[in-house]
Amino acid sequence: MSIPKKHVLVTGGAGYIGSHTVVEMLETGYEVIIVDNLVNSSKEAIRRIERITGKSFKFYEVDIRCKKALEPIFIENKIDAIIHFAGLKAVGESVEKPIEYYDNNVGGTLSLIEMAIKYHIKNIIFSSSATVYGNPDKLPIDETSPLKTTNPYGSTKLMIEQILTDVGVAHPEFIIVLLRYFNPVGAHPSGLIGENPTGIPNNLTPYLAMVAAGKLPLVHIYGNDYHTIDGTGVRDYIHVLDLSHGHILALEKVNKPGVYIYNLGTGRGYSVFEVLHAFEEACGKTLPYVIDPRRPGDIDASFANVNKAKDELGFQAKLGINDMCQSLWKFQCQNPNGYSK
Ligand code: NAD
Ligand code: UD1
Repeated sequence: MSIPKKHVLVTGGAGYIGSHTVVEMLETGYEVIIVDNLVNSSKEAIRRIERITGKSFKFYEVDIRCKKALEPIFIENKIDAIIHFAGLKAVGESVEKPIEYYDNNVGGTLSLIEMAIKYHIKNIIFSSSATVYGNPDKLPIDETSPLKTTNPYGSTKLMIEQILTDVGVAHPEFIIVLLRYFNPVGAHPSGLIGENPTGIPNNLTPYLAMVAAGKLPLVHIYGNDYHTIDGTGVRDYIHVLDLSHGHILALEKVNKPGVYIYNLGTGRGYSVFEVLHAFEEACGKTLPYVIDPRRPGDIDASFANVNKAKDELGFQAKLGINDMCQSLWKFQCQNPNGYSK
């Protein structure tokens, strides 16, 4: 099979979503160049990508903000497209350290785009987030829903979307794709790569995995008085493999210059209780829980209208909540301490 945009620079390719995307790309015949400063990942992820695929690829341990280190990568390599995952992503931390988030996420993107323009790399795919919709006025959320962020992390995503949109106006020959992810969960079926949070996880599914593994005593359910089927928060969880595939579709199907925006989710929401029960089934244990007050900033429900991605990219999530929980549990069991020994 011939791949028109064969050589792809992947920033943040050692991270959770990046590593899964790189695996599919290598298995499909892409030539991948990863740039990652390992601020939230490790060399072990790189070794595991090689182990799963049996393929080699270039890896640069570089901070994308550092133009001096970034530019040689553009000089040394043939690059047809960029998938830009690199960024900091912890909402709570972004409230504590806003400057770090703006500097890393916005600053990093600016230096990357400068290189893309200088070296005529006209195809950029960016990791945005459903967080740009804030508390949505209506459900399901489509791409025309109003944008309003509630924390610095979300604001960096919105700013980068705006910057890339402006770049699309100034450089009408560019193909720019903004992918708004809903809640990525799960792991590779090999159990070799997955999400590797440091410390106590903030997100629901890694927390459930830690409780199931006996590393945390019980699940804290943040609120059971939301306007949802059982009072707990509802989210659109998407398997990381389906999400990764969305990037390949964005590379292959979007070929006309312009700026394109797509939601990537399943279109279906699950409550915290539904996820808890699915995880209990996956791990074969009953997980103790307590109902706590609402987490500040949380919303009742969020799930995507994915018609646009379906119509224009042929995107459709195939894996359900059971696959998500089973693969996460496999990763947890095989890697009780994450990527560290
Ligand atoms: P991750 O932290 O696992 O991966 C991000 C990678 O980027 C890490 O390997 C990190 O070391 C690297 N990185 C960060 N700053 C860098 C810099 N300045 N230079 C080079 N490398 C740098 O996160 P993830 O879950 O894989 O998320 C990937 C992208 O998707 C992020 O931009 C994130 O904001 C976005 N996103 C994630 C989620 C989610 O829930 N995981 C949801 C929506 C959007
Ligand atoms: C979080 C991020 C959001 C990001 C998204 C996807 C925050 C405030 N928001 O959103 O920016 O785009 O992840 O990664 O961090 N819950 C519990 N107990 C827990 C953890 C969570 O009950 O220990 C509940 C939450 O209240 C929510 C649901 O589980 O209803 C999902 O929470 P979480 O996994 O943190 O994702 P989001 O809140 O959607």
